[in-house]
Amino acid sequence: MKHLVIYAIINLVFGKLHLVVTQIDYILKRRQRMKKREKWGSKIGFIMAAAGSAVGLGNIWKFPYTAGENGGGAFVLIYLIFVALIGFSVMLAEFAVGRRKNLAAVGAYKSVDKRWTFAGVIGVLSGLLIMGFYPVVGGWALAYIFKVFNGLLSSPDQIGTIFDSFIVNPTQPLIWMGIYLLLNVVIVSRGVSSGIEKAGKILMPLLFLILIVITIKGLTLKGAFEGVEFLFKPDFSKITAKVILSALGQAFFSLSLGMGCMITYGSYLDKKENLVSNAGLVTAMDTGVALLAGLAMFPAMFAFNIEPAAGPGLVFVVVPQLFADMGSVGLIFAGLFFLALTVAALTSSVSLLEVVVAYLIDEKNMSRIKAVSVSATIMVIMCVLASLSLGGIGPTILGKGLFDVFDLLTDKIFLAIGGLLLAVFAGWKLDKEELKNEVTNGGAVKFGLFGFWYALIKYVIPVTIAIVAASGIYSGFQSGVGGLMVMGVAIIGILAIFSKKL
Ligand code: PHE
Repeated sequence: MKHLVIYAIINLVFGKLHLVVTQIDYILKRRQRMKKREKWGSKIGFIMAAAGSAVGLGNIWKFPYTAGENGGGAFVLIYLIFVALIGFSVMLAEFAVGRRKNLAAVGAYKSVDKRWTFAGVIGVLSGLLIMGFYPVVGGWALAYIFKVFNGLLSSPDQIGTIFDSFIVNPTQPLIWMGIYLLLNVVIVSRGVSSGIEKAGKILMPLLFLILIVITIKGLTLKGAFEGVEFLFKPDFSKITAKVILSALGQAFFSLSLGMGCMITYGSYLDKKENLVSNAGLVTAMDTGVALLAGLAMFPAMFAFNIEPAAGPGLVFVVVPQLFADMGSVGLIFAGLFFLALTVAALTSSVSLLEVVVAYLIDEKNMSRIKAVSVSATIMVIMCVLASLSLGGIGPTILGKGLFDVFDLLTDKIFLAIGGLLLAVFAGWKLDKEELKNEVTNGGAVKFGLFGFWYALIKYVIPVTIAIVAASGIYSGFQSGVGGLMVMGVAIIGILAIFSKKL
C-alpha cells in the first residue's frame, strides 16, 4: 500500500509537471506574440498565470510564521489594510504600466527615461536574491512529499526535531534544493507546451481544498479557538515599526509586487481586458489563500502547544502533526498537501527566474539557454550558501547568515522600495490622461475610484512606504539588522547613480 501511494505521488508530481511548466509557456508565447502584436485571448489564462506567481510559499509558508512572530491579529489587520490600499493599487499600476509600454519591467522604465532603468534593475536583483533562498524552502516542500511516506507521521512528538535536524543537515536539503532548482531550469529553458488553464484548474483548487480540510481538522481540536483569536483579534499594544514594515513586506512579497513581475505580465494583456477586475481578483485570491493558511495553522498550533513564534518550520511541523493520527488517510492528505505546496512554489519561482532571464535576453543579448544557465549557476551558489547558513556554516554579512540576508534585503527593502519607485514613476513620469486611458480601456471600463487610486499612487503610497521603511530601518538597529537594511538602501542608491549604464 505504502509503495503504491509513493508511486502514485511520484506519478502525480511528474505527471503534473508538464502542467506547471505551461506557466512559462504562457510567458514565452506572450513574448512571441507581443512581437507580432498579437495577444492572448483567454482571461482565465492570464488570471491563472498571475495568481500562480502570487500564490506560493509566501502565502502558506511565510505568512503564518511571520504573523506568528509579529504578534498575530494586529499584524494581520495591518497586512490586510496594506493589501487593500497599497497592494491592489500597485498591482493595478504595474499592469497598466506593463500594458501601456508593451515591455517587460526594465524596458518599460527605460523606454520613458534612462535615468529610471535602475528601478527595473532593482526588480531583477530582487528576483535573483529571492531565488537565493526560495528554492531552499521549495526543496524542503519537495522533500516532505517523500518524508511523510517514510515514517515521519509515525512518531508525532518527533516531527519538530526531525524538521530542525533536516534543515541544518549539510547535504540532504542541498540535494532537494538542487532538484527543485533543476525543475525551474527545465521549465524556464524549454517552455514546454500545454495549457496553463489545466494546471491552474487542477492544482489551485486542490491546494485550496486541502487547506480547507486542514482547517476543519484543526478547528475540531481542543483549544483550537485560541488560535483563531490569536490570528484575528488584534492586540494593538503589539504594533511596532518592525511589525508595520513586516506587514508591508509580506504584502509585496505575497502579491509578487515591487519587482516588475506584474509589469511583465501586464505587457502580455489584451487591450480589451479589464485591468481593475483582474488586479482585484488576483489580490483577492492571494489574500484568501494566505488567510486560509493562517486559519489552517494557528488553531492546530495552539492545540498542540507550539509557540506562535516557531519560525520558518511552522508549516512543516504543524501539518504533519495534524495528520499523524489519521492513519493512511492522513498520509495521503499530508502527501497531497506537500505536493500542492511544491507546485504552488514552482509556479511562483518560475516567474522569479523568468524576470532575471528576460533581463539577460533583452538587455544583455544572451540566448535563452545561456541566460538560464548563467542565472541558475548564480542561484545554485546562493542557495547552497543560504541553506548551509541555517546550520551556522558559511559566510555571514553584518552578523547574519545568507538565508536571512537574502530574505531581509528583498522582503524589507527592495520590494517595498521597488513599489515606491513604480508608484512615483506612474504618478509623476506618466501622463495622468494616458494612465486613465490605460486603466479604463479608453473609457470603456467604469472605474469610479480612478481619482482616489491616482491620488494613492501619486502621493499616499510613496509617502507611506517611505515612512514605514524609514521607521522600520530605524527600529532595525535595535534588533541588529539596521546595518543590513541601510546596505540595501545604499545598493539602490548606487544602482540609481549608474542607471544609464545598466
Ligand atoms: N508571491 C510569491 C509567493 O508568495 C513569491 C514571489 C515574489 C514571486 C515576487 C514573484 C515575485 O510565494
